Amino acid sequence: MNDILPGESSAWQYLEATLRDVAHAYGYQEIRLPLLEKTELFKRSIGEVTDIVEKEMYTFDDRNGDSLTLRPEGTASCVRACTEHGLLHNQVQRLWYAGPMFRHERPQKGRYRQFHQVGIEAFGMAGPDVDAEMIFMTARMWDRLGLKGAVLQINSLGTPAARAEYRTALVAWLREHEAALDEDSRRRLESNPLRILDSKNPDMQSLIEAAPRLPDYLDEESRAHFSELCGLLDRAGLAYEVNPRLVRGLDYYSKTVFEWVTDQLGAQGTICAGGRYDGLVEQLGGKPTPAIGFALGLERLLALLETAGVALPASSPHVYLVLNGDRGVQQGMVFAESLRAALPGLRLLSNCGNGSFKSQFKRADKSGAEYALVMGDDEAEQGVLLLKPLRNKAEQEVLSTQDVPGRLGELLDIN
Ligand code: HAM
Repeated sequence: MNDILPGESSAWQYLEATLRDVAHAYGYQEIRLPLLEKTELFKRSIGEVTDIVEKEMYTFDDRNGDSLTLRPEGTASCVRACTEHGLLHNQVQRLWYAGPMFRHERPQKGRYRQFHQVGIEAFGMAGPDVDAEMIFMTARMWDRLGLKGAVLQINSLGTPAARAEYRTALVAWLREHEAALDEDSRRRLESNPLRILDSKNPDMQSLIEAAPRLPDYLDEESRAHFSELCGLLDRAGLAYEVNPRLVRGLDYYSKTVFEWVTDQLGAQGTICAGGRYDGLVEQLGGKPTPAIGFALGLERLLALLETAGVALPASSPHVYLVLNGDRGVQQGMVFAESLRAALPGLRLLSNCGNGSFKSQFKRADKSGAEYALVMGDDEAEQGVLLLKPLRNKAEQEVLSTQDVPGRLGELLDIN
């Protein structure tokens, strides 16, 4: 679990704001969900025999003896909230959320125990058009962030019935080849055989290549849905790879699943993942409601932005106000307020706690400010300030207090 330090937080804010703006551009509205839910909710939605529920949840009994869990993901809470508040009666919903999720995984680069997601969920739309909209939205997010090179993988898991049929065939085939399975896969053979296809063990790859393929077991409806989705992506000119072994680690998916992966981040290369979960609302006690969604991992996106050298906006001050002498400090503090009122977009850091000119200029430099404004007793008496560029060799200017907002507005391109 990481602290996000002052030097990092502006990159986070930029990332969150950009993703939020894209979500709003597609008509999605924010929903804010609690960090804690009843443990039962995650068991029933994510699935009892998934890695998350079996070994990664932070679960405890509260003072009433209720078993609660720090949310490992947001989809289950989102469905619970929508059902609880009647948001799905005869209406569609397009929603997004952001915040920390908790999984007790083995920490490594790109994998943390508290990590942050932006999640997007759409309810009440059964067709492949909204699947395409979701994917277009992700592509637009990369575009806005200036991220290149992530690869879109898609697959269809079919209906639960088709998947059950495939599961039977897969288990039968894997049993015939049990000797070649690694320990992890042997354990999964009973509990979650589809996840064997996800194995990263190089020794297992040729076996996985030869195993029965899910697309051969798809029902007609899922097949048509998937091919319509592919058609929409083709039309939009969005490149994708069909990965028949993409199965996802949560149980609630049906039909379309997708992931965006990159080779820039080492082992944890999935930056965004999701899919359709048409059965989940009903399974959690609501009316049958088709749904689809995805979540992005913000730590991974930030790491990718850094690797790609994308310049992120800083939140350092525009101006450092150097104040000296009793009159200079008193008048300067009041002047700073009038300047903030005149220029709401200005980031102005006033020197507090006195100090020589030299030490104040050192602080100004360290703050990252582009300009210093100086008011000592003499300037205070004359009603002027010195404006001194800190990042280039331009001349300093003497400005009357009234002229400062206008001049800064020109120089800094702020209102
Ligand atoms: P997920 O695949 O478990 O799906 O997580 C989505 C994304 O969260 C991953 O692709 C990854 O970027 C990030 N992530 C997951 N675990 C960690 C971790 N330990 N450390 C850092 N980042 C991590 C879900 O959570 C689904 N709720 C997505 C969804 C929404 N499906 C439908 N709607």
